[in-house]
Amino acid sequence: MNIRENIETIRQDFPILEREMSGHPVDYLDSCATTLKPHAVIDEVVRYYTYLGSNAHRGDYEMSAQVDYAFEGARKTMMEFIHASRKEEIVFTSGTTEGLNMVALMAIDQLLEKGDAIMTAETEHASSILPWQYYGCKKGIATCYMHLTDEGRITLDNFKKSLDENPNTKVVMVAQVSNVLGYQVPVEEMGAICKERGILFVVDGAQAVAHTPVDVQKMNCDFYCFSGHKMCGPTGIGVLYGRFELLDKLTPVYFGGESNARYYKDCDTLILRRTPLKYESGTQPIEAALGMAAAARYLKKIGLENIHEYELFLKRHFLERAEKELKDKVKLYNATSESGIITFNVYDNGQLIFPQDMASFLSSKGIAVRSGQHCAKLMGDIIDAPGTVRASLYLYNSLEDVDRLVDALKEATVEKCLDIFF
Ligand SMILES: Cc1ncc(COP(=O)(O)O)c(C=O)c1O
Repeated sequence: MNIRENIETIRQDFPILEREMSGHPVDYLDSCATTLKPHAVIDEVVRYYTYLGSNAHRGDYEMSAQVDYAFEGARKTMMEFIHASRKEEIVFTSGTTEGLNMVALMAIDQLLEKGDAIMTAETEHASSILPWQYYGCKKGIATCYMHLTDEGRITLDNFKKSLDENPNTKVVMVAQVSNVLGYQVPVEEMGAICKERGILFVVDGAQAVAHTPVDVQKMNCDFYCFSGHKMCGPTGIGVLYGRFELLDKLTPVYFGGESNARYYKDCDTLILRRTPLKYESGTQPIEAALGMAAAARYLKKIGLENIHEYELFLKRHFLERAEKELKDKVKLYNATSESGIITFNVYDNGQLIFPQDMASFLSSKGIAVRSGQHCAKLMGDIIDAPGTVRASLYLYNSLEDVDRLVDALKEATVEKCLDIFF
């Protein structure tokens, strides 16, 4: 679908765009934090509550069989969405963070030895760094950080150099797209290098999966995690993709109802259900899984390539206007990134306007952006800024949304940004 030609129709798919914020039509530029939801997703969630209703994988009556069918259908949709090779490679989780924690716990406990190392980057989200650092420390497994370019990019040359310097690396953990700078990481090539060297390759797809086509097989990754709410789906649901042989070999971190086939009183007789059900202990957020699958179908109908191209079109428009009208006022940190993420700080006659004050000023104009460290607290040193403002563009944003942002930035002064608090 050509998004530029159909933007008004697409915007009508998102009922929340009819609301106001601070007395203005909402200009939502915070899709990295979470995306808005189209009717197709909202309707699917309502369909579960108004028609399907029962639990999954538990009942022996017709209604519950319909839920099983819908739930497993959602798994198949997600398999196709990321080009996994079989639906048993899709584990439902509560989101990226849970998936990444599960992988870290299982890998550290069951695959790594004391003295091994995990490699990641300082630009990563806390959910990618902290589980490895915390559980790794307990077992004598160090987390090391790869070299980056001056602008904070991961490059293949630097990656290879970092691996050569850290020969004990057994896991590489990166985001496919950085949530602060929006750079695309050369995951396919990195995956091939990891495969060649027998290194586990874990990819955080939170900021990629809704913005560009994803193929986990081409990427050669062992695990890939993402969240439904960042792809127009509901909150509380996500996917942990794992290569089947690995998922089948590993023991889960949670135990309980529905993930077990049989158990007795002694420790050794627990028999788990087959993969992936052994990873899904307890009642799952069924309506959210169905909603996430509806979101995947919605995005596929529009076309992930088209979405990516449209985000870059909007970003170019911002950059062109910024170059002409905001040159001395706005410092951009990622003009060259391959995504709709724009990270910047605003200055008033050379004085920094604190990112949070800037965000509050924009809010008073109906514009929603994120400010601060964006859950990547090691990033500040790389870009030499304690915090930034982040506008993240998505398929439902219009050129007018971008123009409103530029106009507001032009108007911003330290005084005006502080005035809104009084
Ligand atoms: C790159 C990246 N990884 C992980 C996460 C965590 O996602 P969630 O909060 O849905 O678990 C985010 C959220 O902003 C992110 O941007």
